[in-house]
Amino acid sequence: MKEKLEQLKAEALDAFKRAEALSSLEALRVRYLGKKGELTAILKQMGKLAPEERPVIGQLANEVRTGIETAIESSRLLLEEKALEARLSAETLDVTIPGFRIPVGKKHPLSIVLDEVKDIFVGMGFSIAEGPEIELADYNFTKLNHGPAHPARDWQDTFYLTEDSRVLLRTQTSPVQTRVMETQSPPIRIISPGRVYRKDEVDATHSPMFHQIEGLVVDKNITMADLKGTLNAMVERLYGAGTKTRFRPHHFPFTEPSCEVDVQCFKCGGSGCPMCKSEGWIELLGAGMVHSNVFKACGVDSGVYSGFAFGVGLERMAMMRFNISDMRLFFENDMRFLAQF
Ligand code: DAH
Repeated sequence: MKEKLEQLKAEALDAFKRAEALSSLEALRVRYLGKKGELTAILKQMGKLAPEERPVIGQLANEVRTGIETAIESSRLLLEEKALEARLSAETLDVTIPGFRIPVGKKHPLSIVLDEVKDIFVGMGFSIAEGPEIELADYNFTKLNHGPAHPARDWQDTFYLTEDSRVLLRTQTSPVQTRVMETQSPPIRIISPGRVYRKDEVDATHSPMFHQIEGLVVDKNITMADLKGTLNAMVERLYGAGTKTRFRPHHFPFTEPSCEVDVQCFKCGGSGCPMCKSEGWIELLGAGMVHSNVFKACGVDSGVYSGFAFGVGLERMAMMRFNISDMRLFFENDMRFLAQF
């Protein structure tokens, strides 16, 4: 029996030493020390021993039990320490790994050009005026000297908001001129950027919504020379010193005389290329001297004051500035496009 106990102890100690997981320790404990365990099984045979042998074997059995318990405890500590180490090394943070780069937004190309234009005109003493995008036909057309049958009023071209054609989405920023002249007295120097709407099919150069910048100057003794000087200053600032312009006679209902202004092709320098369709010039804007009928409709005395006005498409300006051939790119907001500016 003594030998059996010693063998059990050796076997158990070895088993605990080799245990690899905390969970297997409990199974081993049950196996050796449990009620149906191997030590208990041996002790059940104590009754067969001679009385003088019992205390000796009893003491030995106690030693075996304590030995096994100590082995369990030290195995448990060891395994717990190992588990902690494993967890710590798995959870280690490498603080030197670079973080994720958060994409930073950029100014939209239309905003870049608009801000430049605003800067140029504010520098010349202009202020910025605004008007409503939902406008009265009265301001969008009538006060701007469009007769009742003017083709621009057509339902096919204009987004009307009421059946009676009184309310519409403005087709141009020119109604801001009339609103400013009605509410301010000269001298007036404003530009007015904003959205305009026309029933145009979407293609590379058309969109049902686009942007214009309107300009208006009203004062005593304003002449066509002021118009030319102001617009030339803008063109040179936008497209480089020495950029040439060409003023062509044209017709607008709200100006007399009227002109269209072309800029010498920035790509070929005027010799002719696909960009300018071999013309050497690219049309930039419409302008003219404010029509006396417009002054009258807005309560400005055309005997005392004169003025000039212009209207320019912002998309067209930005396309020329950045060499962009398709207007749709401005509105798709594809990051690969926007990131280039
Ligand atoms: N409103 C015109 C258009 O949409 C542009 C324009 C031309 C505005 C001449 C003006 C101007 O103020 O004088 O085509």
